[in-house]
Amino acid sequence: MSGANITRNEVVQFVLRISLVSIVTYYSAKWLMKNLDPTNKSKKKAIEKAEDILRRLGPNIKKSALTNLNDYELVIASHLVVPENITVSWDSIAGLDHVCQEIKESLVFPVCHRDMFSASSLYQAPKGVLLYGPPGCGKTLIAKATAKEAGMRFINLDVAMLTDKWYGESQKLASAVFSLAVKIQPCIIFIDEIDSFLRARNSSDHEATAMMKTQFMMLWDGLNTESDSTVIVMGATNRPQDLDKAILRRMPAQFHIGLPSEDQRLKILQLILRQEKLAKDVEFGQLARMTNGYSGSDLREMCRNASVYRIRKVMREKNKEMAAAAAAAVAAAAAESSKTNGMTNGSCSTTAAVPSSSGSPMLDEAPAITMDDLIESLRNMKHSKYNSGHLNDSRIDLD
Ligand SMILES: Nc1ncnc2c1ncn2[C@@H]1O[C@H](COP(=O)(O)OP(=O)(O)O)[C@@H](O)[C@H]1O
Ligand SMILES: [Mg+2]
Repeated sequence: MSGANITRNEVVQFVLRISLVSIVTYYSAKWLMKNLDPTNKSKKKAIEKAEDILRRLGPNIKKSALTNLNDYELVIASHLVVPENITVSWDSIAGLDHVCQEIKESLVFPVCHRDMFSASSLYQAPKGVLLYGPPGCGKTLIAKATAKEAGMRFINLDVAMLTDKWYGESQKLASAVFSLAVKIQPCIIFIDEIDSFLRARNSSDHEATAMMKTQFMMLWDGLNTESDSTVIVMGATNRPQDLDKAILRRMPAQFHIGLPSEDQRLKILQLILRQEKLAKDVEFGQLARMTNGYSGSDLREMCRNASVYRIRKVMREKNKEMAAAAAAAVAAAAAESSKTNGMTNGSCSTTAAVPSSSGSPMLDEAPAITMDDLIESLRNMKHSKYNSGHLNDSRIDLD
């Protein structure tokens, strides 16, 4: 009888022990799995950032859409840009009026006035837009301005974000891009340098890369079947010839953003320098003529350098004046000390006489940018461009 009792106790204890061990094993395995994933920390950070961004999007978006986001979608959401935070507008782009006008009419208008033409199944924005042309000519600017003016959310897709060392994770992230975009639409998925990600497929592709490309295209096609979704994939590249044919087909709206002509350069220079203090001798027409082959970002760099030069000139002059004043002060102090006290001639203090440069109202009296500053900056740029082989048009010919 007692033997039967002991056995029962033993059984209870055994069951308890087993359950305890299983619970401990379960939690340790879970902890281990979590800590084995090297991306765990960055994922956590991304999720915190995404939650913050989504909270700011909050009032304009359906609550149910936000609460149902999975971890992958949250990682993608951390790269979201809210239209209100985009500083670029159409006014920030000069010399590309024809492209801006075309985008306004074919893309922004259908997105902003969806309700007006809801009866027509054909009146809708294209699902894919490609901006191509040499670097520094305003492709990224146009994409940002479009997102801002159309009031669309903007996923700036960093391709590195999609690559994960764990098998299958990349595909999950790729599909999260599209599912998140649909949840927060209207949305632009912007892929800068799209050729690096969606270049022509070939047999030497890694299996995971090939699979991701194919999956990306399938998801993109999924957008086309949902005719009422306003998700647009926008890509920018300076190597359109490297893009996969299937990708080009999915981007029916294509805009060539070429190197600016003389007239366009004039407008870009006027825009870049519109808030700067300029000397009367600055001639935009002459500068535009002298900068043949320069992109918008080159022109910006030239103006930035010129702006630095004028301050540098003032600084040099100030330094010269200060050095002269210091030398005069030293000489005066030496003469004074030899006159009044011939015994302490080795220990005179010169530092007190040196004028201090701190607190000088240098920037208040900042001079205007002169034509000479601009030409000097241009000459230096030309020199470095020749040396690096950029000016003899080694740019990719796109036409
Ligand atoms: N058409 C333009 N109007 C005004 N600024 C321009 C223009 N094109 C280029 N820029 C200047 O060059 C910089 C780079 O332009 P970006 O759009 O990033 O070039 P990319 O074509 O390589 O994407 C911009 O931030 C802007 O300052
Ligand atoms: Mg760019």
